[in-house]
Amino acid sequence: MNKDTVPKSWFEKKYIKNDGSSGYLRLTKEASNRIHHQVAVDAISQFAPNCDFDSVIDIGCACGDFTHIVSSKFKINRAVGMDFVESGMEIGKARYPNIEFILASLPKIPSRDSSFDLVLAMEVLYYLSKQDLEETVNEIKRVAAPGGLVVVSVALGDDTNQLNRKEILSLFNSGFRLCGIVDQYAKIQASFNKNMGRLIRVAKKYKIPLASSVGLFLRDNMIIAQFNYKLSRLLFGSAAVTKQVFIFEKTD
Ligand SMILES: C[S@@+](CC[C@H](N)C(=O)[O-])C[C@H]1O[C@@H](n2cnc3c(N)ncnc32)[C@H](O)[C@@H]1O
Repeated sequence: MNKDTVPKSWFEKKYIKNDGSSGYLRLTKEASNRIHHQVAVDAISQFAPNCDFDSVIDIGCACGDFTHIVSSKFKINRAVGMDFVESGMEIGKARYPNIEFILASLPKIPSRDSSFDLVLAMEVLYYLSKQDLEETVNEIKRVAAPGGLVVVSVALGDDTNQLNRKEILSLFNSGFRLCGIVDQYAKIQASFNKNMGRLIRVAKKYKIPLASSVGLFLRDNMIIAQFNYKLSRLLFGSAAVTKQVFIFEKTD
């Protein structure tokens, strides 16, 4: 867990390039991001009893890409993205006119009690100090409607600052029911196996030299290898990082 909350200036430095343009544009193109968004959307479909929501808030939304994916995939009347870095949200405002963007800093969520039946906290909680984290979870509890869903995604790895499964479960142990956990590397491994099988069949059918098609596939999906937990441990030692998605239901 972080000793101090990572300040806004750190994100601005990380995401604003030397020429002044926003590095959030890079973030939106990253294959790893696209994969974890897909894994989380699948997890919501799997655990949401009916996939219609009245309102969603995405805390730490960056450019609102995931807010947009969720509000396009499910029936949602009101979609709100919240972040403390303006440059990312400026991109979002231009791209996604249907999303309401709010500039605010966690742990506060400037919204009414019980106002959202879907709360998204994707790759944001581990930037907070213990105290801010606990306050943020209380805020999530306050703004989530009873019976609403909370989706939390955190990186799982050997990096000590990242939250582990036990810490997340303990943070959400009162007022929430755990619906399920999806490990990203497991999902990606399964999809990798499936796609490899398909690729081999296609290559045989069209007499494409297998090596080149496998090579192309791997090149275009380098990220898959990177996210394969066991493989990356083997190749990079302790550098393996993947993500896990938790789905909670707000119970009262
Ligand atoms: C790694 S990005 C994740 C973006 C997005 N949720 C996703 O999964 O694609 C973390 C985001 O959280 C935002 N963030 C970090 N700490 C925050 C805080 N204390 N208050 C509001 N936003 C914060 C950052 O500005 C950044 O946009």
